[in-house]
Amino acid sequence: MQTSTQQVHPEDPTLVPASDAPVASVESLQLREAQQPSATVIELEPLLAPAPKAHAETQTGDAPADNATWRKFHNHGIPEYLARRYWWAYLWKVSVWFFDHAFIINTILFGNYYKLMRAALSRLDPKFDGRVLQITCVYGAFTPSMAETLPNADLHLMDVADVQLQSSLRKLRVAKGASAAGATLSRMNAETLAYADNSFDMVVIFFLLHELPHDARARALDEAMRVLRPNGKLLIAEYGELGNTHVLHRVKFLRNTLEAMEPFLGRFRKENLVEKIRDTASRSGMAVTDVFHLPVFGGFYRVVDFSMKPAVEAQSRAGKS
Ligand SMILES: C[S@@+](CC[C@H](N)C(=O)[O-])C[C@H]1O[C@@H](n2cnc3c(N)ncnc32)[C@H](O)[C@@H]1O
Repeated sequence: MQTSTQQVHPEDPTLVPASDAPVASVESLQLREAQQPSATVIELEPLLAPAPKAHAETQTGDAPADNATWRKFHNHGIPEYLARRYWWAYLWKVSVWFFDHAFIINTILFGNYYKLMRAALSRLDPKFDGRVLQITCVYGAFTPSMAETLPNADLHLMDVADVQLQSSLRKLRVAKGASAAGATLSRMNAETLAYADNSFDMVVIFFLLHELPHDARARALDEAMRVLRPNGKLLIAEYGELGNTHVLHRVKFLRNTLEAMEPFLGRFRKENLVEKIRDTASRSGMAVTDVFHLPVFGGFYRVVDFSMKPAVEAQSRAGKS
């Protein structure tokens, strides 16, 4: 196999190996399904290297009782934490069929799914005609609804799990509008995105961050910021920070039950997301100029969007004012 960082995907020139990802040759990037103008899935097999060993060990959280089931899902570039902790939720065909119903998702989110989706969609400008990347698939109607809300956008969606991409592809194929029809779905790891630097005007992350171990979350955010253009926008829907007023935070039994199902949620909820995004942005030469925060369900959930500027521009503006 040839190796060169100059190589690009024939279908999408912004798809290049991330600088620290294993490098792939063009020949090895296969277009698995190409039925233009319908949405397409692009397979980026060689970029799906497992996380380095040192990382993998920190990603598993508290070691659960080992069993053979999760190992069946730990292949094809699926990170160990995803196979171990979430095979039953995201990787098993039966669960994808089961969970991908809006009423199931709505129940899991204590009846707030539609509110969250509306809140996130309300932050989108229907006139937007740039490139948007949704980092990982989600259950329910969020992705097709986003495509319909942004009919002029060039929509990209990535996920490491083929079963999830296939499911999103089915949903996009019945959604209305050019954005859904022209969407590009690619299989890759959120920790090593295969897109060029500064290649998206907007990045959307819907309920992914709390499902990533701490180190993986930091790498995924770095990658999100790397591919975002300096004047871009980052839109995040997530659990809110842990406080002491919401009843679901105060009742220990409820808190523990949720955190047993979501092993990385506890630490995520104790972090200051806005500070984290500011730090991550500054490492990519950007500054957060505006933060819009929309609490949902009394702050148990939130939709937050961040507007960016190149750091130098933001500094000179601050100097003038
Ligand atoms: C977005 S998250 C949670 C979605 C949320 N529970 C929902 O459905 O609204 C779940 C998705 O993230 C994907 N995923 C998790 N870790 C990933 C990683 N490191 N790289 C790419 N995809 C990942 C899983 O395959 C799954 O499709």
